[in-house]
Formats: sequence, C-alpha cells, structure tokens
Amino acid sequence: MEATTMHLHMPDQWQDHINDIMSSPGVTVVVGGIDAGKSTFCALMSNYSLEKDVPSAVVDGDVGQSEIGPPTTIGMGLVNAPIESLSDIEPHSLYFVGSTSPVGHMLACTTGAKLLVEEAQALGRQLIIVDTTGLIRGSVARRLKTHKIELLHARHIIALQRDDEAEHILRFFDMSEDCTVHRLEISPFARPKSQTLRMQRRAAKFREYFRESQSFEIPLSSIATSGTWLRTGRLLEPKYLKFASTCLGVEVIHGEMVGRSVYLVTERDYNRRGTEEIEEEFGTNSVVVVSALRYASLVVGLMDKHLKLLALGIVSSVDFRSKVLRVYTPLRSIMPVKSIRFGALKLRTDGTEIGRIRPGDV
Ligand SMILES: Nc1ncnc2c1ncn2[C@@H]1O[C@H](COP(=O)(O)OP(=O)(O)OP(=O)(O)O)[C@@H](O)[C@H]1O
Ligand SMILES: [Mg+2]
Repeated sequence: MEATTMHLHMPDQWQDHINDIMSSPGVTVVVGGIDAGKSTFCALMSNYSLEKDVPSAVVDGDVGQSEIGPPTTIGMGLVNAPIESLSDIEPHSLYFVGSTSPVGHMLACTTGAKLLVEEAQALGRQLIIVDTTGLIRGSVARRLKTHKIELLHARHIIALQRDDEAEHILRFFDMSEDCTVHRLEISPFARPKSQTLRMQRRAAKFREYFRESQSFEIPLSSIATSGTWLRTGRLLEPKYLKFASTCLGVEVIHGEMVGRSVYLVTERDYNRRGTEEIEEEFGTNSVVVVSALRYASLVVGLMDKHLKLLALGIVSSVDFRSKVLRVYTPLRSIMPVKSIRFGALKLRTDGTEIGRIRPGDV
C-alpha cells in the first residue's frame, strides 16, 4: 500500500526488522538520539500495521516534541487510518507529566507510558508503538530508558543510531529471550530541528491547544491535588498563622501540617531566618514556605473521578483569601474536575514559556 511510502524514506535494512515485528507484534519501544527519525519511524510502522491488518496504537512518550496531544503530556492514539505524520493521530487518552523534559519527572513519564500502553492493550491493540524523547546519553537517560522498557514488557526495541550512542542501554536487553533488539541505521533524510524551532513548535502546539479556553474559579475545598503541598495536610489554626507571620516578617495566608512538615504560604518574600523559630515551635526540621505568586502561570492537569486527564489548564492565581483556584482551560465545564496535578512549567496563555519550577517547589 502506498501509505507506507508517503514522503517517507525507508532504508532497505529496515524491511526485515519491520516484517519481524509485524509477525510477532507487541510493545515496541523506539529509542534514539534527537532527530534520529524516531517519530517518522513510528508513523511508518503505523501505516505498515494497517497494511498488515495488525491492530495498533501509538504511545507518544515525548513530552517536549509531542506529536499526540500537547507538550507536557504523554498521548495515546489508535491507528485507524493511514497517516503522513504522527500528529495526524487523534489523542485517545492523555497522561499529564507537567514538564517538557523527562529530567526530574522520570516516575511520571514511566507511569504514564505504562498506563497508556495498558489502556491500548485493553482496547485490543496488539502492536503498541512507543515513541520516546531523544534523551539517551548519560546515566539518567540509561536509568529512564532501561526501567521503562522493562516495565512495559517490551517485545521489541527499535534503536536508531548514528554511531553506538544507544548501546549502553541496549546491551542489557541483548540477553533477554523475550525482547528483540533491532539496530537500525538512520535515514539520510533525517534532518535536525534547531532549539529555536523546537521552542516555536511547542509554543504553537500550546497556542492551538488553549485557543478556545476560558477562565474558571474552582473552590479549593472541592478538589484533591498532586504535585504540590497544597491540600495535602491538616489546616493550621489562625493563631499558628499569626505566629508564623511574626517569625517570617510577612503575612502568612495559608498553612498546613503535612505529616511532620509545616507548609506555609506567604503573599510575598519573607525573612528566611524566621523559619528556625517555626522549626522550634513545631518540633520539626521541615518548614516549607511558598510564595502564593509561585503558583501563577503553572501548567496543571485537570483530572476526573477516575484520575483520568480531562484537559490541561494554566493557573491564573491561587486566591487564599477567597479560597479559590483560578484556571484557564479549554474545558467547557469544570463540573467533572475532581483532582488537579501541578506541573513544573510556567506558560503564558498565548503558549509562550515563561520558565519552570523544580518539582516539589510548590
Ligand atoms: N525516514 C525518513 N524519511 C524522510 N524524512 C525523514 C525520515 N526520518 C526523519 N526525517 C525527517 O527528519 C526530521 C527529524 O525526524 P523526526 O522528527 O522523526 O526525528 P525524532 O527522532 O523523532 O526527533 P525528536 O528527537 O525531536 O523527537 C523530520 O523533519 C523528518 O521529516
Ligand atoms: Mg520525535
């Protein structure tokens, strides 16, 4: 079928490997450095699976140069028609990671990939093509890729290598009888994308995603949270907030006891030495002070009662006085929103990136 050749070049060496995968389909993880042609290979495989009548799905594990769903998410889409590019595949389900890089978010990336692979399997898809980020150098990359491949019970690994850059990850799986490693050469048509282009592509995807969004107010008391201290503990009584305000030299507008940690929110910057007195009073060495402004512009995942991602949002503010969270989102109604996961990326509503926070900093 010509779908497999649409604008895409396929080196001769690839054919036998693709045939092998089609004859024993399973989870197929595609790894390689940046711009190695991973996403293009996934598109090609998707078209082949249609031609061979192998029910397939794609899990887009790249949270930066996302093709299925917006950046900061892992997307899963079912392959039902020939495509020219992975981005032609409609997202069936998304998982919120909250960052455009897996660094510092490896557990979320691995969890998301696993859940979406399982979902595709439950829908009867035999071949599940998993696209990944170009992060393959160094020990962080090795740990992420190794554990992800193990957790997904990969039947095949496709490695697109210029040289031997993925070998430090592949060797371990060479010994496995359950997983076949396919070492493929890179197409001479693979072209690099500059950092500027990558940033522009992300901004364009975000802009498109938030194009018809509106603002909502969500009462803090009505939601559960993740990726933040907020609403994870026991509210502190006003007298303790007053005490903390005196210590920090700035008004403390919210406070919770979270296990043995004290979490405090101030309206602006505070006297860092004041935390010692609070530590003494509460008998803890863990006092976390967060300025309310730090929540502004954060990307969040809005989830339903099954903890499934409904949509992304951008926090306008957390108003601790009226106890509401203001969020900008393409969702039509916030009725089904039961949980909010805070990400690490700060975004303007036009899709441009402002900056990022470290995980755990809110
Ligand atoms: N087999 C191919 N035939 C034609 N063009 C290709 C092929 N492989 C890659 N390209 C081109 O090279 C560029 C990079 O490819 P692609 O985006 O698939 O790489 P990637 O490894 O997914 O990159 P990233 O690291 O950003 O995820 C794209 O413009 C793509 O069109
Ligand atoms: Mg890619």
